Amino acid sequence: MKGLTLGPARAFSSNQSFVIWLCSVFFVGASLFLWIAQYEVNSKIPSKEEQAAILERCKYTRAIPGPPPDFSQRKKSDRFDRGTKATLIRNATIWTGLRGGTEVVKGDLLLDGGIVKALGYIPNTVIEELREVGVGIDEVEGGGAWVTPGIVDLHSHIGGEASPELSGANDINSRKSPIVPWLRIIDGLNTHDDSYELAISGGVTSAQVLPGSANSIGGLGAFIKLRDTPERTTISKIIEPPYELNGTHFDHSLTPRWRHMKVYSQTRMDSAWGFREAYDTARKIKEDQDAYCDAAEAGVWKALGVWPESLQWESLVDVLRGKVKVSVHCYEAVDLDMIVRLTNEFQFPVASFHHAGETYLVPDRLKETWGGTPAIALFATNFRKKREAYRGSEFAPRILAQHEIPVVMKSDHNVINSRLLQNEAALAHYYGLHPSLALLSVTGTPADAAGLGHRIGRISEDIVIWDSHPLSLGATPQQVYIDGIPQLKNPSVSTKPDTFQSYPRPPNFDKEARETVEWEGLPPLKPSLNSRKGGRVGFLNVRSVWGRNGDGSGVVEMMSVPMTSAAAAEEEEEEEGERDAYGKGEKKKVAMGGEVVVESGRIICFAPWTGSCIDSPSTPGLSFDEIVDLEGGSISPAFVSFGSTLGLNEILLERVTNDGSVYDPLMSPGGVPEVLGGRMVRALDGLQFGGRNTLLAYRGGVTTAISSPSGSFLRGVSVAFNTGADHALEGGAIVKEGVAVHVGLSMRYSASVSSQIGALKQLLEEGKGEWKDVIEGDMPLIVHTDNADIMASVIRLKSSIERVSATGKSMRISFAGAAEAHLIAKEIGEAGVGVIVYPVTPFPYQWEGRRILPGPPLTNLTAIVKLLMEGVVVGVGVMDDYLARHTGFELTRAVLESNGYIDKKTAIELVTTNLEKLFGLESGSGGDMVAYKGGEFGDLSAVAVGIISEKGGFVDLV
Ligand SMILES: *[C@@H]1O[C@H](CO)[C@@H](O)[C@H](O)[C@H]1NC(C)=O
Ligand SMILES: *[C@@H]1O[C@H](CO)[C@@H](O)[C@H](O)[C@H]1NC(C)=O
Ligand SMILES: *[C@@H]1O[C@H](CO)[C@@H](O)[C@H](O)[C@H]1NC(C)=O
Repeated sequence: MKGLTLGPARAFSSNQSFVIWLCSVFFVGASLFLWIAQYEVNSKIPSKEEQAAILERCKYTRAIPGPPPDFSQRKKSDRFDRGTKATLIRNATIWTGLRGGTEVVKGDLLLDGGIVKALGYIPNTVIEELREVGVGIDEVEGGGAWVTPGIVDLHSHIGGEASPELSGANDINSRKSPIVPWLRIIDGLNTHDDSYELAISGGVTSAQVLPGSANSIGGLGAFIKLRDTPERTTISKIIEPPYELNGTHFDHSLTPRWRHMKVYSQTRMDSAWGFREAYDTARKIKEDQDAYCDAAEAGVWKALGVWPESLQWESLVDVLRGKVKVSVHCYEAVDLDMIVRLTNEFQFPVASFHHAGETYLVPDRLKETWGGTPAIALFATNFRKKREAYRGSEFAPRILAQHEIPVVMKSDHNVINSRLLQNEAALAHYYGLHPSLALLSVTGTPADAAGLGHRIGRISEDIVIWDSHPLSLGATPQQVYIDGIPQLKNPSVSTKPDTFQSYPRPPNFDKEARETVEWEGLPPLKPSLNSRKGGRVGFLNVRSVWGRNGDGSGVVEMMSVPMTSAAAAEEEEEEEGERDAYGKGEKKKVAMGGEVVVESGRIICFAPWTGSCIDSPSTPGLSFDEIVDLEGGSISPAFVSFGSTLGLNEILLERVTNDGSVYDPLMSPGGVPEVLGGRMVRALDGLQFGGRNTLLAYRGGVTTAISSPSGSFLRGVSVAFNTGADHALEGGAIVKEGVAVHVGLSMRYSASVSSQIGALKQLLEEGKGEWKDVIEGDMPLIVHTDNADIMASVIRLKSSIERVSATGKSMRISFAGAAEAHLIAKEIGEAGVGVIVYPVTPFPYQWEGRRILPGPPLTNLTAIVKLLMEGVVVGVGVMDDYLARHTGFELTRAVLESNGYIDKKTAIELVTTNLEKLFGLESGSGGDMVAYKGGEFGDLSAVAVGIISEKGGFVDLV
């Protein structure tokens, strides 16, 4: 006994020792058994059948995905729905996407079996033969309309991120780990979502749905068609579903299909190591597999063992095998550089860089990506929201294209409502991307980047018949076919001006593009001192002049060049347009005749003829600081912008660049700090000047912005300021200090809607401070809400307060945002409440704003038209800071989809005098005017070149 006692630490009783001994014997025995069993497996020579299966798996494993060999001979799509009729579209202008996007075929198009069977001249015999075999054919008269392939969205969260947003349906990120290549978006892809129909109504027919940006390797995406399927399943939406979705036991004799993966480089050093560690794990598995297959293929069957695999890492192994189209979310040069190094270290290709804000600054580095240069997927102008996007540029598409790098425009739906993806392409074209490449950027190029160019992105499966040239502003589908099935029921088609049937001639931005690269994305935007003209400026070739009426309450056309000469000039231009349908072609100078002279910021002469103001005999020898040829352009009142946080933030998601959010008496957990003394917060006190979005707005002809403090329920008092000013103390910088009181009413806030309305009632009844001005109608109350029921409650509240108030005055209330206002348009009109609509193209972001009136092609009316019809004073706003500069384009889209209900005069009023009325500004922009070159405000051929400031006494030639 004693001898066994070795010391206190190992003092076992004899019983314990026996158990340990027994366990050891058992363990050794079991290990031996397992080893022998394993050896048996390893050394067993596979049967002939097993050998064949192994060789097939090896072949499959090493094969690069693509269409099956007989694909080009297919008679029918594998997605064809039985019972779908054939469609013959007669007399269309078909942009095929072939020959570098330059091929346009005039003629007919036949859809049958879910694919385009014939194009151009289609002999009657072809149609007769189809009829003979019993195929029903729908005939559609195209009337020469533009037909393109369906739009392909390379970056979307449609169906993954729910619209309207409900927490139970949002599933695009994992909270478990930054590296999750084993997750699949298909497992979180909703089949019901309001976005599908809306995206289709913009001509989008297929989309790559990607995991979100919370993870470094977010998992496998899915490329889907947006139409509803009779199966109502997720899998039936997927284009060429990879066989791996069926588990590991599938037919390895098939040609592999492309898989898609989302990667994001975020916290930089950690992400980089996370990537290297993950790829290294995958590399080891790949090398084991390759050794296994090398042996099998060499006929060394003995000791081959089992197939090395890992369910967790298999998708990343496929990345290393070049079988996955990898989408990398990557903005800045530092991140791009890291990814390029990573691809070379582990030798795998990247299909596309997304967002890619700084790619245009490092084109040569992109070309060093292992396996070839990726496509670059961009927004047109949605930049500056985060640091990584701060240097993004609207000129990136054209600059990348000059470096022969494929350019894709994408939505990141619903960051941009993918219904507007066509608009992104139109903007890329406006800022200088060649028209063929601009059309390809939302069709063939993204399809190729995803390995699906053999079936989508060119005239092949899905097509769109447009109401105007697809690069024109507001181009809207007349019909959309997915897998041969028409998607729009009773589409509402608006009539577009004839000029919209050819693509607009964009302004020349060569200088701006060059400067953007020189300044690494941050060219100075402040107009220089020598571009500010205090003296006399003449404008030539002016097509029209719009101004304010006598009391400034509306807009009138003050001058227009007689139709005859204007029409002749346009006709001439169009003829030339025909000649070089997609060529570079210099824009022709258009002689329009009209002249305008401005002196110290005041228009002193205008006339629709040459020689009447500038070289007129009555004013010989008049000297000019500058004479500007507007090339058929126009002069009209400067716009007012509302709806974004212009002037209160520079980089929205960088806290230290912002005014921040105000305390909320109803919802701040700690209450409002006492030191505020119950005072209403004023946006004036948080104002910043000289911001990039603000100056771009100024240069775009938006000289006044109204911003309210950011917050939830009680936001405070808004300010109106001049977007071109240097600082708040400059003369004219502050247009009005305290403009309106702003409250937000929403189902999303932590306090109930009824509490919010109760609190609003309390504040109004108390009538202290600014609230006194509100109940006396001296200060407007702006209620930010999208919900019609909330609006109804506010209207009830308004009338009950006005009934008991002794003043006998009515309050001036407007709804802002107001997605559902159309539902109670009549009642809003009767209550004398105003509405500021934004965004112009509505979207059901939230449950409380889901009942939108989408407008053509889904509905004939738009919310703006419906409200105007009921006599409501309507203003139009923008939701994002970066959009303020494009107020004119937003406006034009509203005009185009109104079926002629909104004329030019009304359009200008929506963003000038109407906003001024609703906010109680007297001729708010101080009578500023804007000179546009190459067209009128809101034309894709026009650009603002002169800001005419009467108050300042100058013209800024921007
Ligand atoms: C095609 O439509 C256009 C526009 O309606 C028309 O001018 C033209 O004559 C039509 N061509 C044919 C061949 O029907
Ligand atoms: C999955 O397997 C089923 C049954 O074997 C087959 O019908 C289907 O086509 C397969 N799907 C894929 C995506 O491989
Ligand atoms: C469509 O709306 C316009 C106004 O935008 C109206 O003039 C027209 O009559 C409407 N058409 C139909 C078919 O309802």
